[in-house]
Amino acid sequence: MSSLLLFASILHLINSRFEFTNVECTSLSKKFGEFEYCYLKSVNRTFKYWSAKLKLYQKPIKALEVNLALMKRFNGYKPFLYNITVNACKLFVNPKSSPVAKFFYDSIQTFTNMNHSCPYNHDILLDKLPIEFVNHRLTKILPFPEGNYLIQTHWSSSGSPCALIKVYGTLS
Ligand SMILES: *[C@@H]1O[C@H](CO)[C@@H](O)[C@H](O)[C@H]1NC(C)=O
Ligand SMILES: *[C@@H]1O[C@H](CO)[C@@H](O)[C@H](O)[C@H]1NC(C)=O
Ligand SMILES: *[C@@H]1O[C@H](CO)[C@@H](O)[C@H](O)[C@H]1NC(C)=O
Repeated sequence: MSSLLLFASILHLINSRFEFTNVECTSLSKKFGEFEYCYLKSVNRTFKYWSAKLKLYQKPIKALEVNLALMKRFNGYKPFLYNITVNACKLFVNPKSSPVAKFFYDSIQTFTNMNHSCPYNHDILLDKLPIEFVNHRLTKILPFPEGNYLIQTHWSSSGSPCALIKVYGTLS
């Protein structure tokens, strides 16, 4: 990389900001469970968080896979850089198995009770994940171009679809 390009990207990184615009949590199997709530809340200009609760009807969960796809809006959302599937049950035991999954996992692990390996025999909570914290990690670690992004996670258990979680955001 030329030094000019490098300088430009450093400048860009310092100034860039990832803003969450929307979250959507959808249960894909009413037998598996349902979301009691899933929302973004702005407390004030600097503190915005994401909370969600998934009530599980079939406990314990012994198998859980997650497909994580990053998409960027061009003419509709198109796959962008990452599309990976990992065993969510083993992620916590062996977080190094996938660096990308580990990055997303590290971003949420202190804010969720899903931060241990399977089985999960309790409802799943995401408790006030501060957006600033994720902003910081995203813009510091992932030097992405500006635009609108969608982080889509598709959850399934032994091949059966369970839930679809979409997080929309803008990098400016
Ligand atoms: C925003 O709210 C948080 C949590 O209540 C508080 O700690 C923080 O000081 C507030 N910031 C501003 C600028 O009011
Ligand atoms: C991710 O890759 C899988 C397997 O190739 C494909 O079926 C799926 O549609 C892809 N997801 C997205 C969002 O493009
Ligand atoms: C796991 O989540 C709980 C809250 O549900 C938190 O108190 C604990 O510190 C977390 N553990 C790790 C290792 O992040």
